[in-house]
Amino acid sequence: MIYLKTDEEIELLRENNLLVSRTLAEVGKYIKPGVSTAELDRVAEEFIRSHGAVPAFLGYQGYPAATCISVNEVVVHGIPSEKCILKEGDIVSVDIGTFMKGFVGDSAYTFAVGEVADEVRQLMTVTKEALYRGTARAKAGNRVGDISAAVQEYAEKFGYGVVRELEGHGLGRKMHEDPGVPNYGARGRGPLLKEGMVICIEPMITLGNKAVVCERDGWTIRTRDRKAAAHYEFAVAIRKGGPDILTDYTIIENNL
Ligand code: MF3
Ligand code: CO
Repeated sequence: MIYLKTDEEIELLRENNLLVSRTLAEVGKYIKPGVSTAELDRVAEEFIRSHGAVPAFLGYQGYPAATCISVNEVVVHGIPSEKCILKEGDIVSVDIGTFMKGFVGDSAYTFAVGEVADEVRQLMTVTKEALYRGTARAKAGNRVGDISAAVQEYAEKFGYGVVRELEGHGLGRKMHEDPGVPNYGARGRGPLLKEGMVICIEPMITLGNKAVVCERDGWTIRTRDRKAAAHYEFAVAIRKGGPDILTDYTIIENNL
């Protein structure tokens, strides 16, 4: 079931995703060699609660933290830990959710810890660009497959792997609504995009093979070959004038 949102509901989703953007920017200030991912999770949870929201991930299907923090070969759903200490050259995907005023915010950004290798820097750049290429196709009258194909075609041009096991999703009163938004697929296929739909597009792109495994903790998804992966996610409303991005990466990037 796909829920179309009114303009007022889209504004509440924007408020949530702006708070997620500001939380990502706040966490970004602490991303340095020597910090633990548990410390970053505390910064995020405190920021979210002090702005009148609750962390949407905490307790979701039993998830134990406010954020997912995924370092290097961890693609998504890394559980923050005191034992996971960032070091120079790492990349770290921070994925944050909020719940406020009946709606959910859900966005992610991959940060570099100090200087990273050129090939890893390019993986980050291409993954973010794939997100923007997909977003450009998020228009009424197009289909989900138009977004998926745009993400896949761009990432694969560089020889990267496109993770198949996880995908983007509708966003609203619930974090995961229909439709699913895969990062691979064919133009002209899949559900029709309509005005009022809000979706999260979230490419997960790997430097090596696309295969992933789930760790024994039941959450952590990492690449099978242990090569790095990047992950960016934002929320997009499909509107009369075209895609309306509800997350604000400029808040994060002005701080980097
Ligand atoms: N941002 C992820 C997603 O889009 C989230 C969450 S996993 C959770 O699906 F279980 F931690 F919530
Ligand atoms: Co999501």
